[in-house]
Amino acid sequence: MLKNKKILLGVTGGIAAYKAVDLASRFTKMGAEVKTIMTAHACELISPITFKSITHQPVVTKMFDIDANIEHISLADWAEIVVVAPATANIIGKVAGGIADDLLSTAIMATTAPVLFVPAMNIHMYENPIVQENISKLSKLGYFFMEPEKGMLACGYEGKGRFPKTDEIIYLVQTYLNYKKDMKDIPVLITAGATRENIDPMRFITNYSSGKMGMALARAAYIRGANVSLIAGNITEDIPEYLKCIQTSTADEMFKATMKEFPNNHVTIMTAAVSDYTPAKPSVQKTKKADEMVLELERTKDILFELGKKKSDKQTLVGFAAESEKIIENAKLKLKKKNLDFIAANNLNVAGKDETEIIFIGKTIEEKLSGNKFQVAHKILDLIFQ
Ligand SMILES: Cc1cc2nc3c(=O)[nH]c(=O)nc-3n(C[C@H](O)[C@H](O)[C@H](O)COP(=O)(O)O)c2cc1C
Repeated sequence: MLKNKKILLGVTGGIAAYKAVDLASRFTKMGAEVKTIMTAHACELISPITFKSITHQPVVTKMFDIDANIEHISLADWAEIVVVAPATANIIGKVAGGIADDLLSTAIMATTAPVLFVPAMNIHMYENPIVQENISKLSKLGYFFMEPEKGMLACGYEGKGRFPKTDEIIYLVQTYLNYKKDMKDIPVLITAGATRENIDPMRFITNYSSGKMGMALARAAYIRGANVSLIAGNITEDIPEYLKCIQTSTADEMFKATMKEFPNNHVTIMTAAVSDYTPAKPSVQKTKKADEMVLELERTKDILFELGKKKSDKQTLVGFAAESEKIIENAKLKLKKKNLDFIAANNLNVAGKDETEIIFIGKTIEEKLSGNKFQVAHKILDLIFQ
């Protein structure tokens, strides 16, 4: 999704400037062309040569350079997106105030490309009402902002202000380059991950679902402007702070949470791998070793089936079906039996992987989608909303 895309990276004088090196490297490895503008203060913290060596592209630091073209205009016109990472309180304030007194602020002023600011700073700086007012003013004008993460800050304080994970910035950039905010304020419910059914306090029945497909859908919908609620089972990766998440563990907990949230949502996508069975009599004490053991199981509630019964005309319900045989045939049966609008049928061997291959089936469509799960998530959203 970034191949041959032209990214103008603005690096400002924040302590997280070194983290922008990883970002530049990842963009480059994904096939993007990355040109960098560094402010004078950024050059105090990290050398321009680092970015030049990693991106194999020019790094510009001065506006008035006798050998250069009129860089602020040529770079502003060249860029398909401008990513300011890290963005200091200073650069945000300058742009909000219409100040263009160095190469980066002037290029931002001159570009018509989308601009994404990735603020990172001390918590008191970030919470300063002047900074917040500047962010709010620029957001209303169509500039994009990524929220900093909470955690231990370089200045020794704990709180919101950390530079986000490189992956999260890449997800945003991929979406802004390829999509508009076409899902603005649409309430979307997504379930993801595996459930766990306790046998005793130490042991449980679960499955190989990692939750990656559901997370990819939740991220993609959120970045496209949807109001996403994620009901998470056991998920192997970190859930980003920006997602509203309800944590569950057992099939019964997931059933209750989903039934409660379902009426408030226009689109519900059930990617979670919910256990079909649960131990009939889970033991309160750890089960002792014996020569033989028979575990009695009972059926859990079929969440998709129950949602299908409750679904109104205004709601869209999407299921996922992992199958090991007769994939399409079984998926089509489920689509009908459970009153779904769409079903994504996939092979069992994609669980836990970053890549996937699915057949997306609706009443009038049957499309094969493949690629990394974030890419496929966007294609699924396209098909649901087309
Ligand atoms: C070691 C050091 C670390 C800094 N880290 C940050 C930071 O994380 N965020 C921030 O907004 N300012 C930070 N500053 C302050 C900025 O460098 C200062 O506001 C500067 O004027 C920013 O200029 P620029 O936006 O043109 O790069 C830091 C300053 C120093 C000396």
